[in-house]
Amino acid sequence: MTKNNSRIGVFDSGVGGLTVLRELYRQLPNESILYFADTARLPYGMRSPVEIVQFVREILAWMVQQNVKMVVMACNTSDALALEVVRSEFPIPILGLILPAGRAAVRQGRRIGVIATPATAASNAYRQAMAEIDPTAQVWQVGCPEFVPLIEQNRIHDPYTYEVARQYLTPLIEQKIDTLVYGCTHYPHLEPVLRTVLPRSVQLVDPAVHIVAATAQELDLLGLKSDCPPSPTQFAVSGCPQQFAQLAIQWLGCRPLVEQVDLTA
Ligand code: SIN
Repeated sequence: MTKNNSRIGVFDSGVGGLTVLRELYRQLPNESILYFADTARLPYGMRSPVEIVQFVREILAWMVQQNVKMVVMACNTSDALALEVVRSEFPIPILGLILPAGRAAVRQGRRIGVIATPATAASNAYRQAMAEIDPTAQVWQVGCPEFVPLIEQNRIHDPYTYEVARQYLTPLIEQKIDTLVYGCTHYPHLEPVLRTVLPRSVQLVDPAVHIVAATAQELDLLGLKSDCPPSPTQFAVSGCPQQFAQLAIQWLGCRPLVEQVDLTA
């Protein structure tokens, strides 16, 4: 197989990266994908920077062994804490979400809220990225520790999730934000909940759209765009394959075939 028809590797801690996968299907329908979810070790957003760097190194080493042509980090926490550390250690292009999403946010708004995992919020990665692009934009970040566990437990429409969303968003609404960035790929799954809490005028920025646009540009630039129909997406997880498959149905429209891999073996 020629290099341009190899797969793109996509990874996240869990089902959040499916928001990026759906966007890849939409914008780059010829690409074949290998999707990995580190479900045995989520949530990443509560992990230390040292742990996150180690997990990301293991995932990238495995993806290189699988002969992917490029990796799309569909996990903001990994991007915020590990991308700059590990990028030069691997022989393939590795793309992150924060820069393309930050660019889109400052194009769209002036008063920008970012909801993210505690690790991403504490890293200040979004604030720094946006300050470099446009120092006049005002940015408020909120760490949302409960969102990822609620999504992974399939409790999106639970009344408690609405209550938690109200708590996290109230300080941003009080700042009169005009734009809200999903600083975690899991959060677009909560859109119906967030929409009921946010004023209608607030625009949402989904990093998935922008990382995939950046991926398309990078594939063009490197001459790596696929020129044949895609093979079925391969799904792998570090935790329970059945649990991931059952949860993923609602976003993929069918039950995926999922295998378990042990990255530490
Ligand atoms: C998590 O596992 O906490 C989510 C990681 C992320 O997408 O930022």
